Amino acid sequence: MILITGAGGYIGSHVNKLMFEEGYQTIALDNLLNGHEDLIKWGKFVLGDLKDIKLLNFVFKKYDIDTVVHLAALTSVNESVQFPAKYYKNNFQYTLNLLNIMEKFNVGKFIFSSTASVYGEPDSIPISEKHPLKPVNPYGKSKLMVENLLSERSKNSDFNYVCLRYFNACGADLSAEIGENHDPETHLIPIALNVALNKLEKITIYGGDYPTPDGTCIRDYIHVHDIATAHLKGLEFLDENKSDVFNLGIGRGFSVKEIIKSCREVTGYEIPTVVENRREGDPAILIADNKKAKKNLKWKAEINDINSMIKTAYNYQKKL
Ligand SMILES: NC(=O)c1ccc[n+]([C@@H]2O[C@H](COP(=O)([O-])OP(=O)(O)OC[C@H]3O[C@@H](n4cnc5c(N)ncnc54)[C@H](O)[C@@H]3O)[C@@H](O)[C@H]2O)c1
Repeated sequence: MILITGAGGYIGSHVNKLMFEEGYQTIALDNLLNGHEDLIKWGKFVLGDLKDIKLLNFVFKKYDIDTVVHLAALTSVNESVQFPAKYYKNNFQYTLNLLNIMEKFNVGKFIFSSTASVYGEPDSIPISEKHPLKPVNPYGKSKLMVENLLSERSKNSDFNYVCLRYFNACGADLSAEIGENHDPETHLIPIALNVALNKLEKITIYGGDYPTPDGTCIRDYIHVHDIATAHLKGLEFLDENKSDVFNLGIGRGFSVKEIIKSCREVTGYEIPTVVENRREGDPAILIADNKKAKKNLKWKAEINDINSMIKTAYNYQKKL
């Protein structure tokens, strides 16, 4: 069975759905701090926190778990700057709890949700996995600490891991059954769509003077369905007793203004914007070099058109 932590969250719920539909038996664990019970419609649900070692013991004793897919984390860069200890505790210390319990129960397959934030301000674009790792905020640093631990842990042991460094996740389940629902929402596309749906007045663009063609930041948006399929490929990779790290992005960037333009095209609504100062720690451009995932993980993004990605998010936001 596969234990999926953070399965009540945005990406975890899509991973849980896809794995379940592909015939895997899943156990969805979430404390529902930032997740939603109604996103967990597949497999078994365990309400609990990774800080609770007794509960982890209970879960590993009760279920015959052979793989852990670990998405549970706190994910706000800005909050991590304000409360760094909270991030190191939740994202690193509680991952250590999970790895310890896996060791105790001889569970040796692990898929980890990492992030493009581990690269910090890039020296070159596109960013390959060989790029230096120099995160600039506690969120990225807490993820890098886990990555380092995984690399050490896998040496000379029967523990294998796949580390997936997601760039900007976006979109929703193609049938709009599940999708992105953060509170507060910090991601560009759902905010823009909520302006279109009259739930918000305007969208703030942080920084209009970046060294990019239109002055706004450029990011690599990857559809959540393609992130979920990479996890399936990760399971196959682990079956070959290998460990590795992969970027997940489409290898193309869109500026904030281009995304807002697409949201206008998809919704047919005007989306008022206001430009404010840059936020600290926002690199101008983040674009993935995804060649390694294509070659070694045998993964490919299926949804590459930005309007199609946004349309799936819009279908879900309308339902909320
Ligand atoms: N959304 C993105 O664009 C993006 C980009 C890069 C990496 N990631 C990573 O992907 C993963 C999922 O992100 P998301 O956007 O779905 O976030 P999310 O907040 O929607 O999901 C995370 C889930 O983990 C749960 N959780 C957190 N701490 C927990 C704990 N101690 N015990 C049990 N459950 C806990 C939350 O309740 C939530 O449901 C995270 O690890 C995040 O760092 C996300």
